Amino acid sequence: MNKNSSVVIKPARNISGSVRLPGDKSISHRYAMLGAIAQGTTKLENYSTGADCASTLKCLKTLGANWRKTGAGIEIEGADLKLQPPNSPLDCGNSGSTMRMMSGILAGQDFTSKLIGDESLSRRPMSRIIMPLEMMGTKIVAADGGRPPLRVTGGPLKAISYDTPVPSAQVKTSLLFAGLYASGETMIRESVRTRDHGETALRAFGAVVDQQGNQSSIRGGQHLQAIEAEIPGDLSSAAFFLCAASLFPGSQLIVDSLLLNPTRARLLDVLMGMGVGISITQLEEKHGELVGRAQVNGKALTGAVISGAHTAELIDEIPVLAAIAPYTTSGIEIRDARELRVKESDRIAAVATNLRAMGASVEEFEDGMKIPGGQQLHGAELDSFGDHRIAMAFAVAALRASGETQINGSDAAVISYPAFYETLEGILER
Ligand code: S3P
Repeated sequence: MNKNSSVVIKPARNISGSVRLPGDKSISHRYAMLGAIAQGTTKLENYSTGADCASTLKCLKTLGANWRKTGAGIEIEGADLKLQPPNSPLDCGNSGSTMRMMSGILAGQDFTSKLIGDESLSRRPMSRIIMPLEMMGTKIVAADGGRPPLRVTGGPLKAISYDTPVPSAQVKTSLLFAGLYASGETMIRESVRTRDHGETALRAFGAVVDQQGNQSSIRGGQHLQAIEAEIPGDLSSAAFFLCAASLFPGSQLIVDSLLLNPTRARLLDVLMGMGVGISITQLEEKHGELVGRAQVNGKALTGAVISGAHTAELIDEIPVLAAIAPYTTSGIEIRDARELRVKESDRIAAVATNLRAMGASVEEFEDGMKIPGGQQLHGAELDSFGDHRIAMAFAVAALRASGETQINGSDAAVISYPAFYETLEGILER
C-alpha cells in the first residue's frame, strides 16, 4: 500500500451503468483456507483481487500449500487437514480475517507458527480468538494486551461450548475451523447473528455443520472435499456503488453476480427503507450462497437509525452509510458500533474527522454517531487513515460535494478492491 498516494474526486451529476465485482473477500479467504486442507484440487474463479486475500494465499504457501493462478482464478491442492511447519513468519499484512481464521487451522497442526501483521493489524485485539483456542488446547503467546504478533502452537484439541463475548464472524469461523481438529462437538453461540460464510463454506466442502438460531456447531474428525466454485461479487465493495447511486435521484445502476446472502445483505433493506428503488432478479444459489442481479434506481433519500443486531450485520457498510448521511433528509444515527473503533482504523473517529473537514456537523459517541440530514458538503483534503473502507466511503461522499475532494492515502483501496477508482469513474456522469 502506497501511503503517499492520493486521488482527486470531482463532483458528479448522476450515476448510470453496470458493474460486476471481484469475488467476495470473506468467501475468498474461507475457500482458500479450506481448499488448502481439503482432499483434492479446489478451483476458484473470481477470487478476490484485494491484498487481504493475497495475504491469505501467501500464508498458505508458507505453510506448504501448493496453489497457482489460472487466468481469472486459482487452483489449490489440498493437503487433507495437515499443513507443513513454516520456516518463516506468516505475514498477514493488513488482514484481521487472515490472522484470526488461520489461527483456527494452525491450532490443529502439530507445530508452532508465528503470525505477524502490518502497523494497523499489530494494534488489533486478538484475545477474542486466543481465549477460546487456548480453552481447546492451543498455546498462544501474544504481545502485550493480546495483540499480534502471535505464536501459535497447535496440539491435540478438545471441543468447547463457547459464548462469544463480542459477536464476530471471524472468531466464529476460527473456532469452527479448529473444531474440525477437535475431539467432540464444538459449539459457538453469539448474542446476535453474524455472517454465516464459515458454516456455508464448510458445508460446501462436505462437512456437516449444525446451525440453530445464533448457535453453530461442528463435530471433529471430518475430512473436506475440494470444490469448483465461482465466488460471488463482493457485497461490501458493491456497497460503495450502491450508495453512490442512492445519492442521485434518477440514477440507474445494475450490479451483476452479486452476493446476496441474507446475513450480509442488510444494506439493501436499509437503502430501500430510505427510499431507494432496488429490485433483485436472476437469483440463484451457488455452494449455499445466494447470488443475483441488483438494479438500483436512485430516489430522494430519507434517513435511518442503525442499532442492535442490524449494526453487526452492516458492520463493513457503516462507513459509507455514514459518509452519505448528510445528503439524506432526516440523517442517520448509528449505535452499538463500538467494534468500528478496532477495525483497520478507528472508523468512528475517521468518518467524523472527514465529514467535519467537508463542513458537516457530526455528533460522535463511544459506540456510534449521529449525522443530521439536509447538509451540503464542500470538497476538502481528507485522509484515508490507511483504511480501505474510509478511502472508498469518502470517494462516494465527494460525488455530491461542491468542489473537488482530495483523498490522501487513497491507495488503501487495494486491500479489498484495487480497481475501485477506475470502476467508479466508469459509472459517473459529469
Ligand atoms: C469478516 C467479519 C467482520 C468484518 C470483516 C470480515 C469475516 O469482522 O468486519 O471485514 O469475513 O468474517 P468481525 O468478525 O471482526 O466482526
